[in-house]
Amino acid sequence: MSEKEKKLIEIARRVSQCTNCPLHKTATNPVPGAGNPEAKIVFIGEAPGFHEDQQGLPFVGAAGKLLERLLALIDLKREEVFICNMLRHRPPGNRDPLPEEMKACQPFLDEQIKVIDPKILVTLGRFSMNKFLPGAYISQVHGVARYVNFAGKKRIVIPMYHPAAALRNGRVMTAFRNDFQRIPRFLFESLNQEETEEVVSEEKTQDEQMGLF
Ligand code: URA
Repeated sequence: MSEKEKKLIEIARRVSQCTNCPLHKTATNPVPGAGNPEAKIVFIGEAPGFHEDQQGLPFVGAAGKLLERLLALIDLKREEVFICNMLRHRPPGNRDPLPEEMKACQPFLDEQIKVIDPKILVTLGRFSMNKFLPGAYISQVHGVARYVNFAGKKRIVIPMYHPAAALRNGRVMTAFRNDFQRIPRFLFESLNQEETEEVVSEEKTQDEQMGLF
């Protein structure tokens, strides 16, 4: 087992024991995230829904099926990427995550990103987008890749609509599919760019971040 795999298993173990917010009391299973420890791309959703809570796996319901279909469109399987959420326990009735819940859960995501060290972070929906692009509006920035400094490195963040929103609205679906199809190009660019120097500051405002394409 690789070091990365061991570290991810340890993070998942801590998720399963987490009592930092009340959501563990109502959830059936923790949903720590799943996928390839060597992934170049990490997808970050909102929170587990009913099916995720039942199975302990992220994006296994209708939104997950759409995500898998679009991954296939760009020749990727879910086993090749890493998929997780802002929250690791299901909010009752699938309500929106609360700021204090996201704050309590944040260290798990930060540590997973540090371990996996992906080139690209794809945010699905506004909650994960606003972690990296505070104050951004998804209708304005979806599909626009940006560099952010995160976990000591320059990484590309691609904000996208949430797949559940795409399933509800045909125009959002078209935008979501178009944005998705740009991922290979961003990946190609990121793999071919020169190694960037270590970045000192994690905190950058949106204005300071660099538009990419
Ligand atoms: N929606 C999310 O944001 N995450 C999941 O895992 C499933 C549905």
